[in-house]
Amino acid sequence: MKFSLFSKSESQSVIDLFKSVFSASEGEAEGQVIADFVSNLITTTKPQDLIGCIAEENEVFVGCIFFSRFTVPSGTTAFILSPVAVSTNVQGTGIGQKLIQYGLDYLSSQNVNLVFTYGNPSYYSKTGFAKINENIVKAPYPLSQPIGWLAQSLDGKKIEAIAGPTQCVEALNNPDLW
Ligand SMILES: CC(C)(COP(=O)(O)OP(=O)(O)OC[C@H]1O[C@@H](n2cnc3c(N)ncnc32)[C@H](O)[C@@H]1OP(=O)(O)O)[C@@H](O)C(=O)NCCC(=O)NCCS
Repeated sequence: MKFSLFSKSESQSVIDLFKSVFSASEGEAEGQVIADFVSNLITTTKPQDLIGCIAEENEVFVGCIFFSRFTVPSGTTAFILSPVAVSTNVQGTGIGQKLIQYGLDYLSSQNVNLVFTYGNPSYYSKTGFAKINENIVKAPYPLSQPIGWLAQSLDGKKIEAIAGPTQCVEALNNPDLW
């Protein structure tokens, strides 16, 4: 298994991966929604605000994750993990966790302090994420599943309460995603 950082020339393969994985797990319509979201994320996010990571086996992409900049009022450097996909035929073999850990190690090397995600706590807790109350850090939109608001510190410091609104990148600026 090879892990690497995403580059823009790989956009179409990555969009196809998300489309096929989510079509298989959530149906064709959701596959198209996520493909459009990933395409939007790649095209509208400034390069310094987007970090993608790819898992590859025998030159075939089998996993992809994206982190995009998450602006918090304290000025702490933060990113949010979304979305994540592992090829249907190799799910459950540890690729997702290894890929997330690869991404977290990279963010840490870039002096990122905080990482957020919004998803299934039982899955993301395997890579260090824990529930975070909105009294500590607010989500940019009302959360339909507040239990899925998750974060972890990468600098060893406890996550302190940060007052005020937060901001995600344009592609995530859609209340339906929250
Ligand atoms: C969710 C996903 C990224 C996980 O990646 P993966 O490589 O299959 O998972 P891993 O092999 O790293 O981890 C397997 C463990 O996670 C658990 N797990 C896998 N998918 C899960 C999910 N959707 N929810 C909760 N737990 C999950 C498994 O039960 C297993 O637990 P165990 O180790 O205690 O047995 C992958 O299955 C996937 O792409 N699913 C479809 C798309 C999706 O739901 N993406 C996430 C939302 S953006």
